[in-house]
Parts: sequence; structure tokens; C-alpha cells
Amino acid sequence: MARNATAHVCSACGHAEGRWHGRCPGCGAWNTLVEERAAAPERHGRSGPSRGPRPVPLRDVRAEALARLSTGLGELDRVLGGGIVPGSLVLLGGSPGIGKSTLTAMALAHLQAAGRRTLYVSGEESPAQIRLRAERLGEGALDIPVLAETDLGAVLATLEAERPDVVVIDSVQTLHASELTGAPGSVGQVREVASAVMRVAKAAGTAVLLVGHVTKEGALAGPRVLEHLVDCVLQFEGERERTYRTVRALKNRFGSTSEAGVFEMRQDGLVEVLDASARFVGEATGKPGSVVLAAMEGTRPLLVEVQALVSPSELVPPRRVCTGIDRGRLALVLAVLGRHVGVGTGTADVFVNVVGGVRVEEPGADLAVALAVASAAKGVALGQSAPDAPTAPVPLACFGELGLTGELRSVAHPERRAEEAAKFGLGRLLAPPEVPTLSGALRRAFADEPLATSDPGRHHPPRDGAITHAPRRPVA
Ligand code: TYD
Ligand code: MG
Repeated sequence: MARNATAHVCSACGHAEGRWHGRCPGCGAWNTLVEERAAAPERHGRSGPSRGPRPVPLRDVRAEALARLSTGLGELDRVLGGGIVPGSLVLLGGSPGIGKSTLTAMALAHLQAAGRRTLYVSGEESPAQIRLRAERLGEGALDIPVLAETDLGAVLATLEAERPDVVVIDSVQTLHASELTGAPGSVGQVREVASAVMRVAKAAGTAVLLVGHVTKEGALAGPRVLEHLVDCVLQFEGERERTYRTVRALKNRFGSTSEAGVFEMRQDGLVEVLDASARFVGEATGKPGSVVLAAMEGTRPLLVEVQALVSPSELVPPRRVCTGIDRGRLALVLAVLGRHVGVGTGTADVFVNVVGGVRVEEPGADLAVALAVASAAKGVALGQSAPDAPTAPVPLACFGELGLTGELRSVAHPERRAEEAAKFGLGRLLAPPEVPTLSGALRRAFADEPLATSDPGRHHPPRDGAITHAPRRPVA
């Protein structure tokens, strides 16, 4: 019996084997066999065609407005699309130590206080450890019912008996289905755990928050195989050493995927950062290499500081290090800078950082990266000192996508970005269409200062002669 309870199925070709093979005997691919519960016997064995269910016109389908369960964390609710949908399945991914257990415990504490039935299942920590965390989060968190268990069968039994409104499974990688031989966290186990929890939860109308660990490579490895199964995939990111954390939706059946919520990790849990722009602008240095990007996080404008450092390099090829922006995008910006405005960085290491551990994944960040790099290469600050406060320069704000021919292209919500910059006292804003080219933006940013960079030998003169160059060295 036990022999046939599971099968090892190739994820590439679907070939099934009784036991695990490193190489699929069906298609020859390596490492593709994944343990699964053996398929249930065919049910449609009756002879003759049977009449299937009748399709219904969409007009006749009843769609009730989804009641939402508020987590008490406005930032999380917004990313979820207005709160947790009853009976839904949400996957929350993030690297270890980022605060997933803290976030989910805080949400449950609020729901419990609001009279909902909750359950916190932990396969990672003992009840005593969970209590210690809860003590930091305040009185309410101590009312959460917890179950420290790694056996899937036991968890399912408790779920069926308790029928909570919301359950947190922390984490999906630590639960273990005893029918499968694979280790906890293996693809087969993770898939089985998620689908079994989903079956029981859907029947009981329980909303499930599945916590999943992300590997070093950044993929929701293991949990990634669940993406098609769940209603919503949330990514909790940031750097452990820093205080800011963002939660964003990668997939959401009940809301937008462009929203992001910002939190700060404090001694007593996560605190929503509602005035993120004010913080980032307040912390912006305004020194050479610093510029403020008027970004959009979903429907909300957000001002973040982009910093760059350009330093002579002995390495070939030199270093390109960036956090918070896409590497490919940085390469593009450096190429356009070198090719169209004569800011060469071919013999320099370039570091670009979005301050505060924020990620900006939008083309509107290009101009900020370009201006930060140019400012760093030149060693000239872009901030302007106000006459009354000469020691605290007001940073330059900007946004815009960079085209391959050096033009600046419009991005979404220009008015909202400009309003946000004005709101925080950033009077100087460079953006298309007022500034149509990168060379124009640099000219305005540097107020016609000559542009000399660390890589003078590789300059290509700009076509429109916008930038004055340091004289070329004669070739030896
Ligand atoms: P945790 O939620 O356990 O992270 P995860 O479940 O994602 O692995 O918390 C991560 C870190 O946050 C931990 O190192 C301690 C810190 N922390 C605080 O700074 N303040 C707090 O109130 C809590 C609960 C944790
Ligand atoms: Mg945890």
C-alpha cells in the first residue's frame, strides 16, 4: 500500500516512476522528478458520454462584494487590495529575519482583538519563542491561539476542528506530509502541504496566510511552485540590517499588483511608514552623487534618494554594483551617459544605491540614476543651498525614462510626482517633457558647469554640443 501511495513525476515530461531517479527515464532531464501523491483512480469510468455541467452566462453569475478582513496594518491592507478576502490563500515570501513572523503575528493580533477566530501554526518556533515575540508586540498578541506542529495531518485536524477565520502557517517549508518520503521543504512536500491546507481551508471558509522562505537567489524557491495555486503572492523585502521594509504584491486576484507598503522594524514590532517621502527627503545628503527620485509605488508617489559613487578602478571590467535598481537598467544608463553626453565610466567602478532598502522597479528611475552618476563622476553636488540655510542644501528632484538615443521619455503620473516633490519643498524638478533630453537635464542640473569625468579618454562629444568638455589628452 505504502509503495503505491506516492509517485515520482517528472516536471518536464510528466513521466511517472515508483521511486526517485536523478535522471528522468522518460525524457532524460536531470533532477526533474518530484514526489507526488499518486493520482486518484479514474472516476469517469462509466460507458457512454455523460452530460456535463451546463455553462452559465456571466450575467447570471452572482458576484457578491468581497467582505474584507482588516489586518489593522493599513499598509498591508492596501497591498492586499483592502484587507484579507475570507477563504483566500495568500503566500507571504521573504528572506529569513526580514519580519514575516512579526508581520503575520501583528495581523492576527488585530484580527483576534476584532473578534475574529485566528490560529497561528508554527513549525519553526516553540510556543515559548512565539510568546517572547508576542510580548514585544503588545497585549493583544498574547491572545492569539498557537499550535507548534510540523505534522501536516495534525495541523489539518486542528484546522477542521477549530475552523478559524484566518490561519497563519509559518512556514510552509516546515510542515511535513507523512505520506510523502521527501524532506520538509522539498518541492513535492511544499506542494502537498499547500494544496492540502487549501482544501481544508476552503471547505471551512478559512483565509490562509502561508509564510514561505526565499532562498539567497531571491526566488521563492519551493514556494514559487505555489504561485499558480494561491490567490495572492506577497513579497516582503528590505535589508535585515536596515530598518525599512516593503511589502508588495507579485500576484493578486483581488487587487492591484502595483501597490507597495512601507514599514519600519522597531523594538516593538513593525510600524507603518506613512510619511516615507518625508523621511527619505529629510535624510537625503544633497552631496555629490545624491539626487531625489520622484517615484511611484503603485498609486502612491514616493520620494527616495538615489546615490552614486564613481571611483577609478584597476579592474577590467570595472565593478557595477547596484541595490534597489535593476542591473540591466544601470548598464543602459551608463551606456547612454558615455555615448550621448560624454560622461564615460569605462575605467571607473560605479556603485548605485536606492537609500533605505527600497526597490524602484520602474523606468522613471533612469534619469535619477543618470544624474546621480554624473554628479558623482564630476564631484559636483546637485542640491542647491537656500540662502537662509546654506549648510542644508535642498536636493534636486527628478524622474523620467531614458531612451537609447539620449531622449527623456514620459512616465506615468507626472502630476502626482511633481506634487509630491513640491509638497516636500523640492523646488527644482527635472522631468520630461519640459526637459526633453538627457543633455538638457545635465545642463540644467549643473547650471552649465563644464563636465569632466574620471574617464576623459573615452569621451564622445555630444551631438548638440550641450556639455563643455575638458580638453582631450593627445594620444601618445
Ligand atoms: P521575524 O519576524 O522573526 O523574521 P522572519 O519570520 O521573517 O524570519 O523577525 C526578524 C527580526 O526582527 C528579528 O531578528 C528580530 C527583529 N525584531 C525587532 O527588531 N522588533 C520586534 O518587535 C520583533 C518582534 C522582531
Ligand atoms: Mg519567522
